[in-house]
Amino acid sequence: MNAVVLHGAPLVRQDLVAPVKLTVRVQSVSYLADDINAFEFVNVEGGTLPSFTPGSHIDVQLPDGSIRQYSLCNASTERHRYVVAVLRDPLGRGGSVAMHDVLRAGRTVTISTPRNHFPLATAASMHVFIAGGIGITPIMSMITEVVRKGESFHLYYCARVPHRTAFTRELRAFVDSGVTSIHYDNGDVRNGLDLKATLQSHADGTHLYYCGPSGLMDAVEAASAHWPRGTRHCERFSASGSPVRTAADDPEKPFAIELARSKKCFTVHPGETIVDALKLHGVEVETSCREGYCGACMTRYLSGDPLHRDSVLDKEDREEFVMICCSRAKSASLVLDL
Ligand code: FES
Repeated sequence: MNAVVLHGAPLVRQDLVAPVKLTVRVQSVSYLADDINAFEFVNVEGGTLPSFTPGSHIDVQLPDGSIRQYSLCNASTERHRYVVAVLRDPLGRGGSVAMHDVLRAGRTVTISTPRNHFPLATAASMHVFIAGGIGITPIMSMITEVVRKGESFHLYYCARVPHRTAFTRELRAFVDSGVTSIHYDNGDVRNGLDLKATLQSHADGTHLYYCGPSGLMDAVEAASAHWPRGTRHCERFSASGSPVRTAADDPEKPFAIELARSKKCFTVHPGETIVDALKLHGVEVETSCREGYCGACMTRYLSGDPLHRDSVLDKEDREEFVMICCSRAKSASLVLDL
C-alpha cells in the first residue's frame, strides 16, 4: 500500500529525512486472514531495533530490488521487533505478491528505519479512527498506544467479509466494550458505514485518523470536510485518487533547475522528473516511492514556483519544500537547496 496526507496538521519535517537502511531477519510469517499475513522482523544480531512511534512505516526492499512501504502494526513500546501486515494483491505492482510468495522465516531483508507521517495528535481528548481493509495496520499500533495512555477512542473498521479481515481476534474486547464497530459490506459499499452520519458532528478535542483504499479515503475526506483545520489525519499508501492528468489539459513544459550549492543548472524536459534530470547529470538523490507519497525525496527550494504533485505536503510545507520525484515547476526555473 500506500501515501501520506496530513490535513492541516503540522508536518514533523525531521520525519521526512532520508531513512537509514537496516538488515533484519524475518523471524516469523503468520496468517492473519485470507490473503493477509503478518511479517515479523528482528535484529539479525538479536539486539533491539530503533524505536518508533505509532503510525510509523518502514520501507522494505524486495528481492527484485524494488521498495515498498508498510505500516508497523505492533506496539511502539516493543523494541525487539517490527511487525507489518500485508494483503496479497495479485492486481498490485507486485510487492505484496513478492512478500507473500518469497519472504520466508529465516531470510534476511533490507528495510529502512521507521518514519512517521501519521502521528497521533498529542492534544486530542478523543481519537476517532476509520480503517478500510488492510488500512487497519497503522491504526492497530495507534490504538495500542491510546489504550496504554488511557485515552478515549472509537474505531470504525470497514471490511468486506469476516474471513478476509485482519485482527478481529485482537479487536474482540474493544467490540464487546463498544469502542470498536466492524462494518462488513459484503462487496457493496451501500451496505457499509454511513460516513456522512458518522462524521456529521465534531466535538472539541476530537481528532480523526483514516487509512484505507482510495475510494474510502476520498469519501471520508469529503464527509469530514467541515471539521476544523488540524483535526484530520490520514495516510495513503498509493498515489492519491486525483483525476488523471492528460497532455491536453496539463501540458508539461520544460523548465530549468538550478542547484544553489553546487552551482549547476539543468533542463527538465517534458515527461522527465527532476530526479531523472539530476541522475542524468550524476547528482544522486534519495528516492523510494517515486509517486509523491513517501517523503524520501523532499527537497527545500529557494526560489521559483513549484507545480506540486505530491500527496504529503500541506500548504505551509509547500512554501518551503518540493517532492522532486513527481513535481515540476510553473516558473521558468526552480532553484533547489542542493
Ligand atoms: S515522495 Fe517518495 S520518492 Fe518522492
